[in-house]
Amino acid sequence: MTTAQPVAVRPATAADAPALLDIFTRSITELAPPFYAPPQVAAWAAALNADRALALITDHTTYVAELEGAATPARAVGFATFAEPEEFDMLYVDPAVVMRGVGAALAAVVEQHARFRGVHELKATVSDCARLAFESFGFRHEQPHTRVLDGHEFSVTLMSLPLR
Ligand SMILES: CC(C)(COP(=O)(O)OP(=O)(O)OC[C@H]1O[C@@H](n2cnc3c(N)ncnc32)[C@H](O)[C@@H]1OP(=O)(O)O)[C@@H](O)C(=O)NCCC(=O)NCCS
Repeated sequence: MTTAQPVAVRPATAADAPALLDIFTRSITELAPPFYAPPQVAAWAAALNADRALALITDHTTYVAELEGAATPARAVGFATFAEPEEFDMLYVDPAVVMRGVGAALAAVVEQHARFRGVHELKATVSDCARLAFESFGFRHEQPHTRVLDGHEFSVTLMSLPLR
């Protein structure tokens, strides 16, 4: 599905931290349940708080997506982070606007940033909910992996995108 509203991507500022936290929490609680058990979803959704959301912006390269041309003022509908030296670290989209190209727009900007930084291969540890999206961004499977968060094990996939 496409949207009539183009997606604008810009660097995040500290003022975006509350919106990032809100998108993160709703994205996981609404989109992850088909893929992970309730205790896993709860642990994942609790992994970010206000301080950590702010740190994402100050310690990493974080981009925010907004839908342009809406009647209402622009608001953040997704975010992505790049972590040095070569990690596409986070990608979360407001569940109200998934499947409209917001994730792809953010991924394109992270890829562009990584190229600018001289990264030869962009790495990502991808949740089961996001694997098909990362495939569509051109990432290839490296190997299945288990991530442990607050004592809960998550099946994830190590993926990579060659940038040469
Ligand atoms: C993964 C996520 C970021 C995708 O965001 P999105 O805005 O819906 O992505 P897009 O609309 O740009 O879609 C990109 C591609 O992925 C596909 N896609 C996205 N979600 C999909 C799904 N659940 N099932 C199948 N395909 C999907 C789209 O069809 C599109 O493919 P195409 O380019 O061939 O048409 C979003 O679903 C999300 O926030 N998920 C929960 C959080 C999460 O798991 N984050 C990643 C942590 S590693």
